[in-house]
Amino acid sequence: MIALSFSNILEINSAYRAVWQAPSNIALVKYWGKKALQQPVNASLSMTLSKAASKTSVEVRPSEQRTISFSFEGKQKPEFIPKIDQFFKRIENYCPWINRAAFTIKSENTFPHSAGIASSASSMAALALALTDIDEQLNPGKGDEDFLMKASFLARLASGSASRSVYGGYSVWGLHPEFSRSSDTYAIGYEKIHPVFESFHDDVLITDSQPKAVSSTAGHGLMNNHPFLEGRIAQADKNIRELATALQDGDLNRFIEITENEALTLHGLMMSSEKSFMLIKPTTLAIIKAVRNFRKQSDVPVCFTLDAGPNVHLLYPDKAKEKVQQFIKDELLQYCENQFYLEDITGAGPKKQESYDA
Ligand code: PMV
Repeated sequence: MIALSFSNILEINSAYRAVWQAPSNIALVKYWGKKALQQPVNASLSMTLSKAASKTSVEVRPSEQRTISFSFEGKQKPEFIPKIDQFFKRIENYCPWINRAAFTIKSENTFPHSAGIASSASSMAALALALTDIDEQLNPGKGDEDFLMKASFLARLASGSASRSVYGGYSVWGLHPEFSRSSDTYAIGYEKIHPVFESFHDDVLITDSQPKAVSSTAGHGLMNNHPFLEGRIAQADKNIRELATALQDGDLNRFIEITENEALTLHGLMMSSEKSFMLIKPTTLAIIKAVRNFRKQSDVPVCFTLDAGPNVHLLYPDKAKEKVQQFIKDELLQYCENQFYLEDITGAGPKKQESYDA
């Protein structure tokens, strides 16, 4: 594991500010279950998105003790402060200055609130990037790579999936022999990507925009004594190895098999845990069935994945765009809430912003 150079500075003497925009990501090999503090039971691999993102501004002033003001899309949201505070407690050993600073944090999402899309990956990645930026202003580090790893390390302590959102393209979080620099405590970028996967679409079909019934923290917790835990770890280890090869070789068939297997496994694990729960809806299954039929009949390489919810992510290469768009309109929109879906594509990763209002 690489030693990351956090500042360890105890207090700030003047005001600092950083604004970052970070994208969401969709896991292809899923993270589901933790061991130690925010460390995954298996390595996961995700594609970073382009349009679904969060922008966060962090301003700090010297203060006797830590205070936090948080607003989301222009409105004060004190109900989010306990989560931010819990995150700050987890990182105070690395950035002790956060204990003697008054924080003003502002955040917004680029995707509609009503879309039912989890924003913890993008919002926590944007917050971690802004904190890392201020930490580097206090004590300049070893350059770009160190910066992103530090941000990923911090982001993981807020939300595991956020650790993967600091890189563009594809990223891997979790120690795995296939990926030489991989770690359980931060994600790394995965760059061996065939051109067919460089501009890969992810259209999110919104079947239900309600917030999810079971939090991912509770879901991860149910993996602790899951009867299939060992088998799941072995399956994920194999899937990530084979998916990495498929991404490198441009093997769409293998990509489809592994991606769909991972999506259904995630929900299978939820349904088969001791306290069973089900997040998919009849419309989710109707879409899955239609996608598989369409692929069989048309030979268009489109597949689905699922996050911890009922919405369906349709994944396909750029060359299939016209046919898939027609298919969505003809057959899938009927299953979407208000006929609504979001179009997205592989993204280049987070961006530092000059100002919050730009
Ligand atoms: O980052 P968390 O704790 O919200 O967990 C995310 C878990 C999944 O979204 C279901 C899978 C993943 O790897 O992103």
